[in-house]
Amino acid sequence: MTSLNDQESSKGLAAHEIPKLFDPIGKASISLEDYKQAHAESIRDPSAYWSQQAKSYLDWYVPFDQALTGDFSAGDIAWFAGGKLNVCYNAIDRHVRNGKADQVALVWEGDEPDDIRRLTYLDMQRKISQIANALHAQGVRRGDVVTIYMPMIPELPMTMLACARMGAMHSVVFAGFSSEALAQRISAARSAFVVTADLGKRGGKSIDLKGIVDAARAKIDCEDIITSVMVWERFFDQDSETAPYDMQPKDVRMDLLVAGQRPCHVPEWMDAEDGLFLLYTSGSTGTPKGLLHTTGGYALYAAFTTKNSFALEDGDLFACVADCGWITGHTYVVYGALLNGATTFVFESTPVYPDPGRYWDMVERHKITQFYTAPTAIRLLMRYGDHHPAKYDMSSVKVLGTVGEPINPEAWRWYFEAVGKSKCTIVDTYWQTETGGHIVTNFPGVTPMKPGSCTFPSYGIDTVILDPMSGEPVTEANEKGHKEGVLAVRQPWPGMARTCLGDHHRFMTTYLKVYEGYYFTGDSAYLDQDGFHWIVGRVDDVLNVSGHRIGTAEVESALVSHAAVAQAAVVGQPHEIKGQSIAAFVMLTDGFSESESLIKELRSLVRQEIGGFAQPDLICATQSLPMTRSGKIMRRILRKIVCNEVESLGDTSTLADPSIVDELIAKVAELQ
Ligand code: WTA
Repeated sequence: MTSLNDQESSKGLAAHEIPKLFDPIGKASISLEDYKQAHAESIRDPSAYWSQQAKSYLDWYVPFDQALTGDFSAGDIAWFAGGKLNVCYNAIDRHVRNGKADQVALVWEGDEPDDIRRLTYLDMQRKISQIANALHAQGVRRGDVVTIYMPMIPELPMTMLACARMGAMHSVVFAGFSSEALAQRISAARSAFVVTADLGKRGGKSIDLKGIVDAARAKIDCEDIITSVMVWERFFDQDSETAPYDMQPKDVRMDLLVAGQRPCHVPEWMDAEDGLFLLYTSGSTGTPKGLLHTTGGYALYAAFTTKNSFALEDGDLFACVADCGWITGHTYVVYGALLNGATTFVFESTPVYPDPGRYWDMVERHKITQFYTAPTAIRLLMRYGDHHPAKYDMSSVKVLGTVGEPINPEAWRWYFEAVGKSKCTIVDTYWQTETGGHIVTNFPGVTPMKPGSCTFPSYGIDTVILDPMSGEPVTEANEKGHKEGVLAVRQPWPGMARTCLGDHHRFMTTYLKVYEGYYFTGDSAYLDQDGFHWIVGRVDDVLNVSGHRIGTAEVESALVSHAAVAQAAVVGQPHEIKGQSIAAFVMLTDGFSESESLIKELRSLVRQEIGGFAQPDLICATQSLPMTRSGKIMRRILRKIVCNEVESLGDTSTLADPSIVDELIAKVAELQ
């Protein structure tokens, strides 16, 4: 079991100052009391509740007869099994049939603000069908895994939807990951098919994605696994007979292949429990886990949470500015809005290009109705001042969303006042790659807001705070009036991941066996006197850097692959913009000494092995690390050192060499 003492000790962001209650904003569909009643009803009989929702949110080719089977203890959870449907049909075709053929389904804004594309539902149906036919021509069949390593261009969501259409599982790898990380994911999923693009564009710079794919192919057994690499061209020129990149034997010019296909493809009818996609995510130990999400439950949960958490209405232009490489991009860029027949916004660039008014300029120009980003972006933009959002007419926005980490009240207030002009609901949506969609969030017009609290559980989610030691629900409040412990969920919901690909044992031990009978989130949290949920942070060795989830074990394993590093210990330290940044302690191998060039090499090694976003801000080289006599590194002490909490180091007498602590304190002070 995890001890609360091991949790990330400080967010350093005044995260839990005395909260002020803000009244719900917007048209209330129901009152808070109604919500409480409806929520109680939704968890009383989950099977009946979700059965009704599944019929109303999705079109089924063959109806299901039982909503839920299985439970947490056996880990054999299935939703709507036996029912058949296709997620792409539900996201696209049925809207074409229902009179929305000419409605814009996707608005894309590229790296340059004047680079805009709009695709109607009919355009999407035709193009996705062509892509599905192209994938089929390359040998992709139902059940295959297609790895997608692409920039944020409309072809990315369309390739994902084409996979869904033909019953192949997509495994999207964020294009910021290195060739090593990409190779690892291709090989772990034994994915014979890779779809990429020659170039990505961000902040005026080009990124050679194809070069990274080629480097990945040179690693481990990748090239043996891969049978086809389909390459979109970022600036496709139909008349050009040669590819604008160095073509390898298995490469296919995707734009040409797609253009030659008929724009009609009959969707594959899938069982609700067939895999829809894999998404690799970091855990506290070992290599990233390939989480499997399935067809019916995930689609329902994506549609349901988008509709309810954001009060989505017909005609809305929903903008989630996350990358499709993360779960937020899957659920809220690709699937959520389209399943509801709204319009989704796809954004390729950064919040500060060409200037820090970019988001707000887009809101004004496109009349965005819901805008969804992460606290790290809000904190960054807040620094540039109020005059950026003040320049734009953002009256189209009804709801502003936040996700990825606890939002500090200062950033919340800026988002509310400077961006939302105190007229928009801020939805603080708490969820994870594993949960598929929001599990704790406020609802616009319904739930009062407290800056920094994600408020109450979403429908069908039965949250509970457990005592980390006993595993029993916390019933007593502490001296602050808080019921504090770890956050868990008491019963299955449709959007939850079903397994880790090829390693169900790992799924069970990480999520369902830590506290018998519960799904364990890995986060510590408390309920305040009013029952509002407050997330404190991870209790495991998972860091959250700019909303990106990074396992300390992954960074450590990258560092120890250097000959000079005998052992490495990585911890999180508070960072004003990123939330957390990475601090690495490396114990040098005999014969090696510290130098500026070594530190540089170690930084670039992490970049090579994982990606630039995982680079440590601080690397402290040392001859020894604080270890117990049995050789276990005491990360708790390192955490306190980097958080400047040395007065509360606790007991260091169990250390093999207590004198190392003072040495490290002095060294870190020098480096910080
Ligand atoms: C954290 C991202 C506080 C949390 C969707 C969780 C949050 C991890 C919030 C999952 C929030 C996400 N408030 N913390 N609103 N949203 N988190 O899998 O620690 O990349 O466990 O999914 O992010 O990160 P993941």
